[in-house]
Amino acid sequence: MMRQKTTSMSAEDCRDPGRGGWSRWLLAALGAVATVGCYSPAAKFELNKIAIHKRELENEATFSQQYQLTPIAKILADQFGTPDEPKLPNVPGIEDFLDLEKLKMAAGPYGSDKDGKQRGLYRQHCVHCHGINGDGAGPTAAFLNPYPRDYRPGKFKFKSTASGLPPTHQDLKRIIEDGAAGTAMPSFKLLSEDEIEALTQYVKYLSLRGEAELYMIEAQFGDLYPAVMKPADKRNEEEQKYVAELSPEEIEEEKAEFLEEVEFFESEENIVDEVIGPIVDKWLDAEEEVTVIEPKPEMDIHESIEKGRELFFSSKTGCAGCHGESALGDGQTAEADFYDDWTRFYYDPSDPSTLEGYLALGALEPRKLRPRNLRQGVFRGGRRPIDIFWRIRNGIDGAKMPAAPPIVTDEEIWHLVDFVRMGLPYDPLSENEPHQPENLRERN
Ligand code: HEC
Ligand code: HEC
Repeated sequence: MMRQKTTSMSAEDCRDPGRGGWSRWLLAALGAVATVGCYSPAAKFELNKIAIHKRELENEATFSQQYQLTPIAKILADQFGTPDEPKLPNVPGIEDFLDLEKLKMAAGPYGSDKDGKQRGLYRQHCVHCHGINGDGAGPTAAFLNPYPRDYRPGKFKFKSTASGLPPTHQDLKRIIEDGAAGTAMPSFKLLSEDEIEALTQYVKYLSLRGEAELYMIEAQFGDLYPAVMKPADKRNEEEQKYVAELSPEEIEEEKAEFLEEVEFFESEENIVDEVIGPIVDKWLDAEEEVTVIEPKPEMDIHESIEKGRELFFSSKTGCAGCHGESALGDGQTAEADFYDDWTRFYYDPSDPSTLEGYLALGALEPRKLRPRNLRQGVFRGGRRPIDIFWRIRNGIDGAKMPAAPPIVTDEEIWHLVDFVRMGLPYDPLSENEPHQPENLRERN
């Protein structure tokens, strides 16, 4: 009884710590120390500052708070709610994609609501790595390599669909259940089926929300040039020059056009038809796009491994180019400038001058990507033959591992699967990633 009270403090307890006498209060206070959220301010979804900064550099203009950023934040709050109270966006058919009851189980502070329903799974299990808005930059993230996934671009690595498509529900569920071996992403197999389902739903929710936000920042609101809408002292040099060349009539005309655009972007019609609807459709379509695989041919395993070996070192596949003659991940094609897409979003190794600005906004220090050392027998995306088949057939999105060329047949991919699983000397001591100075981080 006592234990139950301290470990599962409810949101109700937070609001009314005095209820039930002093002993209850004491227990509640103890619980507050152990849980997150109670006496801290309500959790907030912050806007994607990195995407905003990037668009501002491209536009050579800063966003208008009043006419661009505030409306984006409002649309997102209207459609998706808050980290404590999620909502389903007002899109027809959304129920096929997300289940509000499950989202509520994952959202909010850890504990249970007034009806005793479980809440806060995401904050209990994921937030310290993946962040409250799914940006992959929670407090633990800076110490990890690879970094936790930023869900907001809607891009995932370990899935059964072709390159460029979203993962299926089952793909996400599997990675949450099994984790990603060799990375900090843990397995959550010990959670109940319902809990895993709730977390899977919540990842999709954060991803959908993040993609919608990105779209509004990179297109739509981000395509508007706000100089005329700003008070003179808020314009940067470029914006001032621009406005100085306009006649008063032209300024009025531009203002009217700007407001008309904003009004359209804010309309539910636009939000459904052009922003959220297409993203939901893309995810729903992906459910039907699982890569179909010819069954593994019956063949002597040694023979298959040998065929795989030949293919691995052939120009037809190009595998050794990246993974190296020794498969240690040190091939010629693996360049010094290998960074994954999540990093490339804000970091261009050929022009590092803008990096400082992004780091100041909370971007993580860029870390190099390496083709995998295949001699450690570690497969992040799962070690079942079918997982490895999907990796080789479709590549790994966002991480420079290309899909096998179409001339490579399914049968040949099976040989490659056999080769990487069983044809390489096991070499646990060969370090893939020596601890480079760039991976060390000063504590502050
Ligand atoms: C200790 C840190 C940590 C925790 C806690 C954590 N993750 Fe992760 N997660 C990672 C890392 C690191 C990766 C990236 C692995 C990679 O890129 O190979 C990742 C990747 C993922 C992915 C992307 C897989 C893909 O195909 O791209 C999903 C989905 C995910 N995590 C969900 C969750 C959920 C849900 C929780 C909580 C139940 C959670 N993670 C908890 C570190 C963590
Ligand atoms: C352009 C470089 C490149 C080429 C070519 C390439 N890979 Fe990779 N491969 C990578 C990178 C980078 C990773 C690590 C991705 C990550 O961090 O998740 C990787 C990862 C892998 C993995 C690990 C998957 C997992 O779940 O951990 C396997 C297996 C693999 N590659 C096999 C192959 C095979 C077989 C070929 C040839 C058909 C090939 N690769 C061609 C770059 C390449």
